[in-house]
Order: sequence, then structure tokens, then C-alpha cells
Amino acid sequence: MSLPDYEPSSWTTSSNEALHISLAEPEGAFTFNPTFTYPIFGDSEQIFGYKGLRIDLAFDCRSMYPFLGVKYESKLSEDVKDVEKTLLEFLPEETVVKDEALWLDKIEQENFELPGKPVYTYQIDGETYKIFKFKLDDSNGLKLHLRIQIFVLLFIEAGSYIDSTDNVWEIYAIYKCPEDKKESFVGFSTAYSHWKHPGTAAHDASETLELQFRKKISQFIVLPPYQSKGHGKNLYNCMVDEWLADDKVKEITVEDPSEAFDDLRDRCDLQRLNRADFLNGVKLPIEEPWIEKQVALHKMDRRQFERCVEMTLLWMLQ
Ligand code: ACO
Repeated sequence: MSLPDYEPSSWTTSSNEALHISLAEPEGAFTFNPTFTYPIFGDSEQIFGYKGLRIDLAFDCRSMYPFLGVKYESKLSEDVKDVEKTLLEFLPEETVVKDEALWLDKIEQENFELPGKPVYTYQIDGETYKIFKFKLDDSNGLKLHLRIQIFVLLFIEAGSYIDSTDNVWEIYAIYKCPEDKKESFVGFSTAYSHWKHPGTAAHDASETLELQFRKKISQFIVLPPYQSKGHGKNLYNCMVDEWLADDKVKEITVEDPSEAFDDLRDRCDLQRLNRADFLNGVKLPIEEPWIEKQVALHKMDRRQFERCVEMTLLWMLQ
């Protein structure tokens, strides 16, 4: 081995660039890179000890059955990080490693049925998309969840896995549903129901108090090939509309929204509030009882409602 071969930089690979995620659809595969890999490969998002490293993490588009393939031109020594083993710790046990033919057999044998039931259908560019809702006591739902949860680490900053034994979680998954071809996974969101205390006065005044809930959107992902096409908007509006129609749900919140999610949420909330002509007749300065009434009516987080009021007033003053 010549001296330059010992240059650390020549044996260092960006884990974000080395990892190729593919979604195998009937007419070919979409391939894209993750945004984050630090939860898997460490803060520097670098893998040391390989030249020509390529990691392929592929998913069948309907069942999301995973396949992992790791290739490299050379390895510095046997002591460097085992990339395959490291990734497998974050993937379900059933993941097929290296053997593509076996992976295809497994997908065919399984003949996966989509979990839950479609709760909303929409069209974009002439294609039909459906949002399926399920819980983790649905065996296919649990399988799908365990297969797709790695996207939380790869696409949400500071994202972490949810407790898959907790049946309170609700999962909403978007699928492209062509009439003549197999369905294809687009994105998903997880939501949790927290019991909402109605306040001591209401609690003490009633003997038959109905349980009230606060819904929290925890994780929300549209896969890169489908981003910026309106899927996020459809998924968010579907979830919010369902909760607005449910008398037991009193508040809708979001856990640690990213900047991009804030933008999506602002646009959807503003459109909904403005459709309801929410500022009609309001007098400035806005009084506390009006805010409290509107927050309860629209089941919004108070800070988010105040943002929407400010944005609408700024827009009206232009
Ligand atoms: N930056 C700024 N604005 C954005 C972005 C972005 N990256 N993506 C979408 N928007 C805005 C658009 O302006 C759009 O408004 P418009 O249609 O009026 O122009 C609006 O949001 C809706 O766009 P969609 O196409 O419906 O959004 P998309 O399907 O791309 O989903 C999402 C947006 C969920 C943020 C997606 O880009 C994604 O999954 N990103 C990676 C993961 C992520 O950040 N998830 C949210 C983490 S926070 C949480 O999980 C609670």
C-alpha cells in the first residue's frame, strides 16, 4: 500500500451521500438521499475506513419491505465500523441483506394488504391518492410502521422512534392508488391523544364528565420524490378536519415543528380560518374573551392562533 492511501480523508465518506434510499415502484425506482444520518452514524455524519462506499436501502413501494445492500471498493481494516450491522440496528429484523432475489420473493410471498381504512381521497396531477388510518394493534399496520419508522431518523431533525407497543398512537399513511397498478407509499404522520383536563370547575360540576382529548401531531413526513406537490397540505387538512368534527377533541397541537412544517401549518390554518371569515366584526384592540372563544372554536394551540391573527392583520394592513 502506498503512503497516500493512509490519508484519513481518502478513507472518509459522508454518510448522507453514501446512503441511497430507493422506493421500488412498478415503473422504476425513485432514489434519494437522507437529510440526516447522525442518529445512526454519529454527529459528524461521516463513515471512516472505506473507499467507494455505497449503501442501498430499498423499499417495496406497497409493503415497504426493506432491503439493505452495502458495497465498497476497499476497506482500511477489519476493525472499522460495520456499516451493515450499524444500520440493521435501526431496521426491522425481517430486512433482507444483499440478496435481491430473496427480497423480491419475500415481497411476492407476503402479498401485503394495506392496513386500516382509507379516510380521505384526493387527486394531484390526475393521480388518485388515499390516506389510510390505522393503529399499532393492526398487524399489517405494525409491520408497516416498523418498516417506515427509519424515515423519522433520516428526515426529521432530532426525530426519534415512538413506542410501538402503545396502542394510543394513530398513524395516517398516504398511498398513491392507481387503478391498474400496485399502490405506492408517499408519506405518513403519527399522532397521539392526550387526556385534556377540562379545568377544576367543569370537572367538579359534572358527575358524568366525558373524556376530552388534546391531539398531538408527532411526526410528519412526505418522502422527497413527492414533496412540494401538495401532499403535506392534504395530509394535515385531513387530520385536522377529522379532529374538528370530533366533539371529544378539544385542542390540536404539534410536537417540535420544523420550519418547513410551520410554513405548511400556517398556510393551512390561515386558509381554514379565512374560509370561516374568522375576523369578521372583530374590533381592535382584540379582547381576551374573543381570543379564548376563537381558540376553543378552532381547537387551536393559542400561540398558533395568535400567529394566524397577526399574519392576517398584517396582510389586511398592506
Ligand atoms: N420550506 C418552506 N415551505 C415549504 C416547504 C419547505 N421545505 N415544504 C412545503 N412548504 C410550504 C409550501 O410553500 C406549500 O405552500 P403552497 O402550496 O401554498 O406553496 C405548503 O408548505 C404545502 O406544501 P406541500 O407540497 O403540501 O408540502 P409537502 O408535501 O412538501 O410537505 C413537509 C411538507 C411535510 C415539511 C415535507 O417537506 C417533509 O416531509 N419534509 C421533511 C421532513 C420534515 O421536515 N417534516 C416535518 C417535521 S416537524 C414534525 O414532524 C411535526
